[in-house]
Amino acid sequence: MRRNEQEERQLWCPPVPSEFPAQYDFGGYSEKQVIRIARKYLLRKENLRRAWARVNHHFPETLTASKPLDILEFSTAHGAMLEVWRHFGHRVRGTDFAGWPDNYNSNAKRPGFIDAAFAKTHENPRAAKNLGWIYQPIIESLGLEVDLFDAGALPYAYDNKSFDVICCYQAIEAYATPENWGLVVDEFCRIARQSIVIGFNPPPLKLREDPEHMAAARAATEALRSYDRNGFKCVFMEFGETRAGFHPTAIKLMAVGGAGTAKGRTKSTRAPQKTVGATLLPKSPRRK
Ligand SMILES: C[S@@+](CC[C@H](N)C(=O)[O-])C[C@H]1O[C@@H](n2cnc3c(N)ncnc32)[C@H](O)[C@@H]1O
Repeated sequence: MRRNEQEERQLWCPPVPSEFPAQYDFGGYSEKQVIRIARKYLLRKENLRRAWARVNHHFPETLTASKPLDILEFSTAHGAMLEVWRHFGHRVRGTDFAGWPDNYNSNAKRPGFIDAAFAKTHENPRAAKNLGWIYQPIIESLGLEVDLFDAGALPYAYDNKSFDVICCYQAIEAYATPENWGLVVDEFCRIARQSIVIGFNPPPLKLREDPEHMAAARAATEALRSYDRNGFKCVFMEFGETRAGFHPTAIKLMAVGGAGTAKGRTKSTRAPQKTVGATLLPKSPRRK
């Protein structure tokens, strides 16, 4: 039987604190809006367990910080990383994409375990109900702040060095082709002061059979492993095992030589351009 790497990873960190409520509050949302969310992301406990392990293993410095940090998570989806960091008193913000079509995941079955979540409502509406933003019911239930935009459109609307920590898990593949991941990461470096983690998706089945795509993905990953510009250096690259086999799962960049402060900013750090989102990076063909 294949080992469950996620479960094993979670055994190597302290247990998730019991203070987190067990479920989201979906009262007030239509069933149609809620069941678009992938089944695995409807389980708050599981989302928190995954996020808790990531924060413990990839960002131990945020657990012992002497003051609250400003943290931005790209493509937060269900917001569990932000929930964990908020628990430690940090100031958190997320981003996500809100351009999903109305028929996205329309064949999904309603899982019985969410019945209890519909019984409760919350008081955190952030926007009119929007089928294009899949995770709206969860994010509003948690009262998190999330900015909605296509992260393949550069530059982003954040100031230089406005967040201590940036993370982006299992999403960069949707922003742009591998040849352009470096541009996305350059933009993360413009915004970040201290540390950045990029988590990778397993290579999708269809693209795994495409030698050209795999060569580009390998070259892009290697370029990030040896990243040393914009005042940031790669400090580790992590591998893991999933159904897609053994592959890179994350890299971490840290600011070097005071580059993380406005004073120490290097010349190569790009100032935000006037028109936010003006450059749309090419995307890989739809993944399966
Ligand atoms: C596989 S989920 C990962 C969610 C979460 N980061 C995690 O690791 O559990 C992919 C996320 O990327 C977002 N996404 C997809 N295309 C995007 C785009 N062009 N710009 C920004 N986010 C995008 C999705 O909405 C979703 O939140």
